[in-house]
Amino acid sequence: MSVSGVEGEERSDFSAAESKQIRARSLSLLGSLLRPVRWRVIGAMLIVVLSTAAQVAGPALIAFGIDRGLPALLKQDWVPLAASGAIYLITGLIGAGLIAWYTIMSARISQGVLIDLRKRVFLHTQRLSLEFHESYTSGRIISRQTSDLDAIRELLDEGINQLVQGLLYMSFTAIFLFALDGTSGLVLFGSLVPLLILTRWFQVRSQALFRQSRVASASLIVQFVETMTGIRAVKAFRAEKRNERVFGGLVEDYRKVNGRVIQLFGIFDPGLVLIGNVAVAVVLLIGAFRVADGQLAIGALLAALLYTRRFFDPMEEMAMFYNSYQSAAAALEKISGVLEEHPGVPDPVAPVDLWTARGQVAFDQVTFAYQSDRVILPRFDLTIPAGQTIALVGSTGAGKSTLAKLMARFYDPSDGRVSLDGVDLRDLHPKDLRRAIVMVTQEAYLFSGSVADNIAIGKPDATPAEIVRAARAVGAHEFIEGLPSGYDTDVNKRGGRVSAGQRQLISFARAFLADPAVLILDEATSSLDIPSERLVQQALQTLLADRTAVIIAHRLSTVAIADRVLVMERGRIVEDGTPADLIAGTGRFAQLHAAWRESLV
Ligand SMILES: Nc1ncnc2c1ncn2[C@@H]1O[C@H](COP(=O)(O)OP(=O)(O)O)[C@@H](O)[C@H]1O
Ligand SMILES: [Mg+2]
Repeated sequence: MSVSGVEGEERSDFSAAESKQIRARSLSLLGSLLRPVRWRVIGAMLIVVLSTAAQVAGPALIAFGIDRGLPALLKQDWVPLAASGAIYLITGLIGAGLIAWYTIMSARISQGVLIDLRKRVFLHTQRLSLEFHESYTSGRIISRQTSDLDAIRELLDEGINQLVQGLLYMSFTAIFLFALDGTSGLVLFGSLVPLLILTRWFQVRSQALFRQSRVASASLIVQFVETMTGIRAVKAFRAEKRNERVFGGLVEDYRKVNGRVIQLFGIFDPGLVLIGNVAVAVVLLIGAFRVADGQLAIGALLAALLYTRRFFDPMEEMAMFYNSYQSAAAALEKISGVLEEHPGVPDPVAPVDLWTARGQVAFDQVTFAYQSDRVILPRFDLTIPAGQTIALVGSTGAGKSTLAKLMARFYDPSDGRVSLDGVDLRDLHPKDLRRAIVMVTQEAYLFSGSVADNIAIGKPDATPAEIVRAARAVGAHEFIEGLPSGYDTDVNKRGGRVSAGQRQLISFARAFLADPAVLILDEATSSLDIPSERLVQQALQTLLADRTAVIIAHRLSTVAIADRVLVMERGRIVEDGTPADLIAGTGRFAQLHAAWRESLV
């Protein structure tokens, strides 16, 4: 896994080489996004050049109308005035039409790019392995898909438009002004000096502030998401007060930094207006003397004033470009970081198809560590014949779930191999792997949708009859029938809320419908109520019949249905035998079992 995406997202202590690599990574992402729309981009550029030229032609046409049209009209010749009026109108219309065209075109381009990027981020994040998701917090994942994409949308929809249109507008204005009256052009040129100084000052200050503002708003989102994700723990431990303090502090930081941004604008905006007004005053003063001397026509002076006045219009929005560019660049860096993450469990290059799995699972000399400095499973060997039901017991932290995750290929072993029917899991076609091995955990997650939809996740093309049969098999049918709309009840709607135990039954039905050759239940019976113990046993027996099964359970009663019990401690199997043998012996399982029997009476 590459470091970039998993490290703190607001890291700023990158070395020069790292920064260069990150920039290259975002640029190549940008390139890959723009390549499919490059012709449309070129077309849009041509249109915007034409439309800006049409817009800027206005004052020159007014000058022509006044300086040529008016004197001619006084001599009864109305042609020049009518011509300049007509041309003014036509360029206005053409300009408006072109702007409309450009707006639609650029919106199409930016929406296309965004859809592309949004899909890529979603599909890629979904494809990344558990290893990634366990270290990349949900708050950060949400930021990638929301605020980061928003920053890029803002740049594409507004920032770039404003920059391109603004630059073209100012250039054309300057060119027209110079062509019309060089002296006024020089005055405008002179005003560029304070303008550049002011803009530079604004950029430097605002860059730092906007970065702080982004960090502050990201912290807000992360804090919010984490609090709400862990809302049960928050309530259970009365952590509201503490969270209120933390959140209050973050909100205050955000407010402060935004206040400083506003202050900055409080200087920049009036500064721009001042420079513009001074430039207009100087053009007027110098121009008026030249008009009086007869060196400059009155219409030309009017046009020069209009040009000078308008020249500064796009400045404020253009100054903002830098900020939207900065946040979009930061967003692109983070998104490209996620997109560059490689799944920790890559798909095989030459997948082996395993049409019908029998279900023999073997661990050969497997060593596994989540982090290389702490080995969880040291050299592990285990063969589970097809069809065997295994009960895996051991104290918390012994490595039971880790073993289960290796079997389901949520992780790959650091050394050695895990195989199904002799095929290394790493070579197995992903579709075969998912069909052959299913793991049900305590989590029993339900997606929004109906109960039937949730069961059908096990087999997307299942018929309603198959879904009902699966629910009956695991003893879930009765309670589902009792829900407000039976199988069509929405699990996220009021009334459709099901208990943790019922969720587990639904996930059993899902697994039954999936009909895998190997089924792993990791603490999956823990929420089922004790009174339904017998039902649970029956459900389990139906669920486990004819397949290889590994049950990890606290409840020793579930062990009774196993063919073989494995006792695990510190990543090793310390006992291995039939339930009867182990109970008869003097080992750890016999002790556990005796203690459990006593607790029952
Ligand atoms: N995602 C993970 N990253 C690092 N260490 C982990 C991770 N998951 C589990 N561990 C460690 O691996 C050991 C075994 O955990 P686990 O297999 O969940 O135990 P069990 O299911 O038997 O309670 C524990 O010491 C735990 O701290
Ligand atoms: Mg566990």
